[in-house]
Amino acid sequence: MDAIKVIKKINTCAKKEKTEVYAVGGFVRDYILGRKEKKDVDFVVVGSGLEFAKKFDLYMKEAGSLVEFPDFDTARYVIGEGAEKMVVEFAGARSENYEATSRKPKVVKASLEQDLSRRDFTVNAMAVPVVAFAGILKPSIKKIVGLVIDPFNGQIDLENKTLRTPLDPDITFSDDPLRMLRAVRFAGQLEFLIDSKTLKSINDNFDRLKIISAERIQEELLKMLAVKTPSVCLALMFQTKLLSLVLPEVVDLDGVEEIFGHQHKNNLVHTFKVVDNIAQRTDKVMLRFAGLLHDIGKSKTKKLLPKIGWTFYAHEFVGKKMVYQISKRLKLSKNDTEYLANLVRWHQQPISLMDDDITDSAVRRLIVAVGEELNDLLILGRSDITTGNPYKKEKRLKNYDNLEERIKQVLERDQLRAFQSPFRGEDIMKECGLKPGPTVGRIKEAIEEAILDGKIKNDYNEAKQYFLEIRKEYLDDAKDWERS
Ligand code: CTP
Repeated sequence: MDAIKVIKKINTCAKKEKTEVYAVGGFVRDYILGRKEKKDVDFVVVGSGLEFAKKFDLYMKEAGSLVEFPDFDTARYVIGEGAEKMVVEFAGARSENYEATSRKPKVVKASLEQDLSRRDFTVNAMAVPVVAFAGILKPSIKKIVGLVIDPFNGQIDLENKTLRTPLDPDITFSDDPLRMLRAVRFAGQLEFLIDSKTLKSINDNFDRLKIISAERIQEELLKMLAVKTPSVCLALMFQTKLLSLVLPEVVDLDGVEEIFGHQHKNNLVHTFKVVDNIAQRTDKVMLRFAGLLHDIGKSKTKKLLPKIGWTFYAHEFVGKKMVYQISKRLKLSKNDTEYLANLVRWHQQPISLMDDDITDSAVRRLIVAVGEELNDLLILGRSDITTGNPYKKEKRLKNYDNLEERIKQVLERDQLRAFQSPFRGEDIMKECGLKPGPTVGRIKEAIEEAILDGKIKNDYNEAKQYFLEIRKEYLDDAKDWERS
């Protein structure tokens, strides 16, 4: 069911119940902008949101399911599944705000206008009575214009592509400090500018973000990374110091040091370019996140060495450790954490391989080490080429093409994905009369090393032959308890 159909049903129910119901927030904003219709629509009910939602549930005769939040006088009604899923939320007109130190909002009943005034931005503080949609067949702003309740001139701000708070921004951001991140995210998502007074207030209040939960911060950060050009959001985050609270490790990359005429590039600027480069190649948000974190180990490993210049030795190992700390702080899932750690650990490898005479052995080792994430690592590596020198850039990209081609050949030839010795642990145990233990592991590893070094093919017979040659030297060292 599409949004307009649902709104029409809500209108019929509202008429029957003699209740005023308004579509509000992002749905109205996107409808006026002509953006893709939202799959989640918020409604304000003059009266009780929960009571109206219960009536709507009855009226819909179980076409969807109702989730009630009595503590907040709100309810969510979910219709359909997957791509078809529509979520509508009903709330009684109210205002919600955070006390200076509290993480839980306080909710009080209010009029529609008061409700709109306590919202984040003027472009999100417009309401349209559901009856306005009654005669609409296809989305068309012309039909609802004039019916939009717009006490804070959101329509003018939409036209001017401006994000502005309905009230004094210090109040709006103090009501919910997460809105500072939302301002940055909407700036990137809608390609709007943040009005100067609103921006100044973010600069003044950035550290109020400290009371916001990691989950909410993480959600906004990922939405910022999902926009077309994430550096718009990242630069704003940096400028307003919000980034120093969310990802201080990334802020530490800022700056250019010069000693005895040796200068290194600004790693923050480079990082933002890498994220944009990745964004041009993939929508995968976690890969964009990996781009944001790929060099975080650099600030801790920076050293100027005589004759060599600036070095960042082992920054990928240090960076990997830092990923675990960041993930814990931002409460990322275990899967996402491992993904980020793996890409940060290996990001340097394609770059260092491409400029050398690549050996098959080095290529095989990379494929096996990175595993499932090889394609993503290759996108990260290519995006890491940010030199401004067009000659150098062309040359490096060409080398990178060669590396990718080489990887493709080795992959096709050696079938290395999900690699392990084709002569398996069970085979080794059976042949040697061993129980599971370190000796079996050592023999298996030796076979795998021989394959990676190109001594033998990734094939059962060659692996078995090799096993027969080396078994004695390992068996002699086996402990008694390993023998069956
Ligand atoms: N809102 C708010 N302050 C917040 C979150 C939301 O004032 N911290 C209000 C805004 O009016 C917003 C509406 O609640 O438009 C719905 O919020 P949400 O669904 O989170 O955002 P949308 O504006 O719909 O946009 P998106 O779905 O892209 O986040």
